[in-house]
Amino acid sequence: MLVEKNVPLQPYNTFHIVAKAHTLVRIASTSDLLQLLADPVLGPAPKFVLGGGSNIVLTGDVKALVLKVEIRGLRVLEDTPHAWIVEAGAGENWHDFVAWTLAQGLPGLENLALIPGTVGAAPVQNIGAYGVELQDCFESLDAVDLQTGQAFTLNAAQCAFGYRDSVFKHAAAPADAASGRPTGLGLAGRALITRVRFRLPKPWKPVLGYLDIEKKQAQAGVTHPTAQQMFDWICAIRRAKLPDPAVIGNAGSFFKNPTVTPEQCADIIARDPKIVHYRLADGRVKLAAGWLIDACGWKGKSVGQAGVYEKQALVLVNRGVSVSGSDGATGGEVMTLAKAIQTSVYERFGILLEAEPVVV
Ligand code: EPU
Repeated sequence: MLVEKNVPLQPYNTFHIVAKAHTLVRIASTSDLLQLLADPVLGPAPKFVLGGGSNIVLTGDVKALVLKVEIRGLRVLEDTPHAWIVEAGAGENWHDFVAWTLAQGLPGLENLALIPGTVGAAPVQNIGAYGVELQDCFESLDAVDLQTGQAFTLNAAQCAFGYRDSVFKHAAAPADAASGRPTGLGLAGRALITRVRFRLPKPWKPVLGYLDIEKKQAQAGVTHPTAQQMFDWICAIRRAKLPDPAVIGNAGSFFKNPTVTPEQCADIIARDPKIVHYRLADGRVKLAAGWLIDACGWKGKSVGQAGVYEKQALVLVNRGVSVSGSDGATGGEVMTLAKAIQTSVYERFGILLEAEPVVV
């Protein structure tokens, strides 16, 4: 087990914010993790699990022990008449995993192409794009309890997936005062995901219906695309709209799309008829947070070196990294900008936007 001190974290977060880990340990296998947990000094230390760093804002050096998940491995576990079951190590790059499934002739994940991050982080926020969420093709995952060292497996119901949400984002509920029993399951900061399995149903059907995909279909004159065509289109749509973190630091959508009651939505439409909104199956209405931010005039604005992306107001970017000699945006600048956006959207629309990334 290699324990590294004062490790720069700039290469390990997609915002490219400059910060250091006081102590970092690379976890390449479950046995690495068990060895670490058994260590008299490192075992009991507070820990921070780092995947691809694509959903975090670092606001300073990280004092907690950083566990950098580097567990690899891709394999097809089952090929049944109804589905393929595939498994990936938590440290695998998400997009490379999606590309690998297609190269094996296993379609189903193509709408989730080009999402930055690792396989292990994908269930934490139930990544989603173009009408597909991770939960739609999730089978199960393996994890290790960081307090007890116990390995365990969770199915989809146990992961309690929601929109950009799961059991891994919630703290354990406090114990019931009378019985002393926990009142709900929350695994935030408690578990390290080691492997994830996916169920890719047969026969494959493309998930269409998004305006951007329909435009690609019309351009290509294709009504029944292949999974590879869908993959290529999704990559092209994302590249046109979203900044490549390798070039401009960012953490994808910075806020969740809020949901409101039909009455709240009608009230906003009365004032802003152009608001982009989608009716959900449960009767509530989802609003496009990017539209709300854009309507408040934020596109292209900055606080220090943190800015609002010109082509998609839902994405905050680090403008400084390409400036020579600059450290780029600080986490403080990103959060000051995020709070100013929240305030102006709240003042105009009465809606409090919820940030997606974890602030460290
Ligand atoms: N819009 C504006 N101005 C903007 C940005 C958006 O008017 O500056 C409008 C667009 O014109 C469109 C609507 O808002 O009518 C929605 O925009 P878009 O299609 O870009 O999708 P989104 O709701 O902003 C969500 C996900 C993305 C995902 C896309 C496609 C969230 C928080 N974001 O974005 O996920 O790729 O849909 O499915 O749900 C991510 O989570 O990091 C992410 C990129």
